[in-house]
Amino acid sequence: MSLDDVLVGHYGEGGLLASIEAGLRAMGKTPGRLQIDDLAPVDEFHIGGRQATTLLGQHLAVQPDMALLDVGCGIGGPARFFATTFGCRVTGVDLTPEYIDVARALTEWTGLSAQAGFDVGSALDMPFEDASFDRATLLHVGMNIEDKAGLAREVFRVLRPGGRFGVYDVMRRQTGAIEYPVPWSSLPTTSFVDTPETYRRALTDAGFELVEEHDRRDLAEQFVAALLARAAEGGGPPPLGLHVHMGKEAPRKISNMAAAVRAGIIGPMEIVAAKPG
Ligand SMILES: C[S@@+](CC[C@H](N)C(=O)[O-])C[C@H]1O[C@@H](n2cnc3c(N)ncnc32)[C@H](O)[C@@H]1O
Repeated sequence: MSLDDVLVGHYGEGGLLASIEAGLRAMGKTPGRLQIDDLAPVDEFHIGGRQATTLLGQHLAVQPDMALLDVGCGIGGPARFFATTFGCRVTGVDLTPEYIDVARALTEWTGLSAQAGFDVGSALDMPFEDASFDRATLLHVGMNIEDKAGLAREVFRVLRPGGRFGVYDVMRRQTGAIEYPVPWSSLPTTSFVDTPETYRRALTDAGFELVEEHDRRDLAEQFVAALLARAAEGGGPPPLGLHVHMGKEAPRKISNMAAAVRAGIIGPMEIVAAKPG
């Protein structure tokens, strides 16, 4: 089995759309009559959720006539947020076929299908022509990709000159062991948490110029504190939340990630780069 197959098995366990629909109905919401905010607890699959997506978007100067590519889009929360917030056209690409099916269904349920489309594909070999997009984003995906240099080269290829690339990934901040499973990987063999320097080198070697960086450690501390506090209350998870993606291992995945964040071993970082115009 290839590493990609292992990852697809990790993320696409099956039954996700039905679980989301059940959660929505438990909250009194009806598929087909949804706002993007109704889905935010489950469709922003990264530390800091919608808040982190909003912060990244603020650094990309997106205009309504632009085409934005979200690489490793998951079930499409950031894509729908960018389409709604900036009025731009968004394309999401992801390795996990189930996520793409769910992304399309949720986009229909929120009435955004004319503005946001989704394709199955690898970030290392994307099904797009050169220079197709004005902006690209990558939220919590690089931790699954060993070849950061190849990833940066592929995003550089599909961006137009003058385009911007916003990365928001969990990065290694100091040495120390990460216990598995974590939300992005059940096993160490599909986890490639790298240092900010590795990302910077991959980006500049691909031809990007580094524009700005933001350390989101504080956001991560608050986020994991809220997750742990909810778990300690013992009342069970809410109808919709990130646990819906994580299956029965959700408590271990969350507590292992929280421990590594709290020990300062990992932390999310935002890096914005530009393709020279
Ligand atoms: C933690 S989720 C983040 C999803 C989404 N970016 C978000 O923030 O809600 C990681 C995603 O990366 C995708 N992924 C992992 N490796 C990939 C690759 N080589 N190419 C494309 N997508 C990949 C997974 O399928 C999964 O949807």
